Amino acid sequence: MKINIAIDGPSAAGKSTIAKLLAKKLNYSHLDTGAMYRCVAYKVLNMGIQIDDEPKIIDVIKNTDIELRPDGTIYLDGQQVTNEIRTNEVSMGASDVSKLEQVRKELVHRQQEMAKSKGVIMDGRDIGTVVLKDAEVKIFLTASAEARALRRHKENLEKGLESNLEELTKEIEARDYQDSHREHSPLKKADDGIEVDTSNLSIDEVVTKIDEIIQSKLV
Ligand code: DC
Repeated sequence: MKINIAIDGPSAAGKSTIAKLLAKKLNYSHLDTGAMYRCVAYKVLNMGIQIDDEPKIIDVIKNTDIELRPDGTIYLDGQQVTNEIRTNEVSMGASDVSKLEQVRKELVHRQQEMAKSKGVIMDGRDIGTVVLKDAEVKIFLTASAEARALRRHKENLEKGLESNLEELTKEIEARDYQDSHREHSPLKKADDGIEVDTSNLSIDEVVTKIDEIIQSKLV
C-alpha cells in the first residue's frame, strides 16, 4: 500500500533534501512545491510584472508549464531553470507571490492532481494543512535560523553559486516571518503533524527518524 507524505517547514530546513532521499528509499515520487512558486516568481520577475499584481500573475500562471522531473531538474515552459530559481531574488519573489490567494489556489490545484495516485512525498509550507490534508504522515521539519542559513550557504558553494552567509541569514529570517504571518495558508504545523527538529541531526539521522515514523503508520 502506498500513502501520501507531507513535509512542511520553514525555508532551508532540509525539506527537499530529506524528501528526495526518502522518496528514493521508499520508491515514492518527490514533489517540491516551493519550486513551483519559484518558477512563477522567476517568470514574473523576468517579464517585469509587479510581484503583487495578482490579476496579471494569474494570467501568466494559466499559460505556464511547470515540470518537476523525477531526476530533480525543473523545467519552466520547456526550459531548464533548476539553478536559476535558487537565487536570493527569486527566493524572496517566491515568498511574495505565495501570499496571493489566487496564485495559491491555482498551484494547490495542480499539486493535488499530482498526488491523486498516492505514493507521493510532497514538501512545502501548507501541504499538511491545505494541499494534502488527508496525508497519512505529516512531518514538520524545523531547525534554528543559523543552522539553516549555514546549510544553504554550503549547498550554494557546492553548486558553484555565489553565497553570502550574513545575507542568507537575513533573507531566511525575513522569509520565515513573511511565510508564517501571511493571511492565506500561513506556514504552521498541522494539528496532526509530527515536529522533527533537525538542528543537531545529520541528514541520515533525519531520514531514519522519518522513515521510522512512516513505517509505524504502514503496519
Ligand atoms: O521551499 P522553498 O524555499 O523553495 O519555497 C519558496 C517560497 O515559496 C517560500 O518562501 C514560500 C513559498 N511556498 C509556499 O508558500 N507554499 C508552499 N507549499 C511552498 C513554498
